[in-house]
Amino acid sequence: MPASSHDFPPAVLVTGCSSGIGAAIARGLRDRGYRVFATYRDPRDGERLGKEGLEPVALELADPDSVAACAGEVTERSSGRLQALVNNAAYGQPGAVEDLSRDVLRHQFEVNLLGTHDLTVRLLPAFRRQGGGRVINMSSVLGLVALPYRGAYNATKFALEGLTDTLRLELAGTGVLPILIEPGPIASRFREHALTAFRENIDVAASAHRDAYREELGARLESEGKAPFTLGPEAVLAKTVKALEARSPRPRYYVTLPTYLLATLKRALPTSALDSVLRRIG
Ligand SMILES: NC(=O)c1ccc[n+]([C@@H]2O[C@H](COP(=O)([O-])OP(=O)(O)OC[C@H]3O[C@@H](n4cnc5c(N)ncnc54)[C@H](OP(=O)(O)O)[C@@H]3O)[C@@H](O)[C@H]2O)c1
Repeated sequence: MPASSHDFPPAVLVTGCSSGIGAAIARGLRDRGYRVFATYRDPRDGERLGKEGLEPVALELADPDSVAACAGEVTERSSGRLQALVNNAAYGQPGAVEDLSRDVLRHQFEVNLLGTHDLTVRLLPAFRRQGGGRVINMSSVLGLVALPYRGAYNATKFALEGLTDTLRLELAGTGVLPILIEPGPIASRFREHALTAFRENIDVAASAHRDAYREELGARLESEGKAPFTLGPEAVLAKTVKALEARSPRPRYYVTLPTYLLATLKRALPTSALDSVLRRIG
């Protein structure tokens, strides 16, 4: 059950609820009795979320005005009392590091890091005023280890790890707890969206990596949900509930076997040995 000192349902804001992990978290928290503000971009998704008993709020993370409007709307509608922010929305831009244009890399950071940071700092004053709250950031196993052709996404998730670790140190004693969730492969629309970003932004024919793109990357992105050890999004919901409701939550929650395995190998192996493992699974 949600912990709340108030006599009305505790409220949470979950970003990126049109599909996948965000949708599962929003519905799961609603079912546990939370009042859930659920963000969307396409108005048709907003309408659908409203019919599901969620409170839709528009949010485009790459647009600072949209982030400000979302934070303002949620602060007002929740009377400044939010139990948690779940920063879930993000996308993956595949492609070799040398094939990323400055604009493409910038957009990946605008969405996955800068918009997320902006939304968080806009809500922190309310968390501070009420003497606590949880900022649950959806990172990834790719925030812990790198893989070939994931450089843009790796960079944003490594940055999210750094920002969250720093925030945790800075907020010590305030009652506001930043927490990272580290999923490995989860069935969602993530790969479909990554394939679109790949097709739109990477010039395969002009790339030194074109053979690898044609032989490996394309096939992998098209195999939606079929990576080994893939779990359903409810596995991430379960860890999010722990992050939200545990009296003393951990700073990091791992989801899926690959996350446990690779996080352990990262701690145990020298970089060159870890590289040879990562090259094989990349
Ligand atoms: N699936 C995995 O294997 C996996 C593994 C590790 C970590 N993760 C992380 O889990 C989180 C959720 O991903 P998912 O797997 O559920 O993928 P998904 O099905 O593609 O969902 C991503 C969500 O983010 C939203 N979003 C994307 N760009 C946005 C933007 N510019 N502004 C606002 N919202 C935006 C999407 O909205 P639209 O529908 O409007 O695009 C969608 O609701 C992400 O942080 C991802 O990095 C996923």
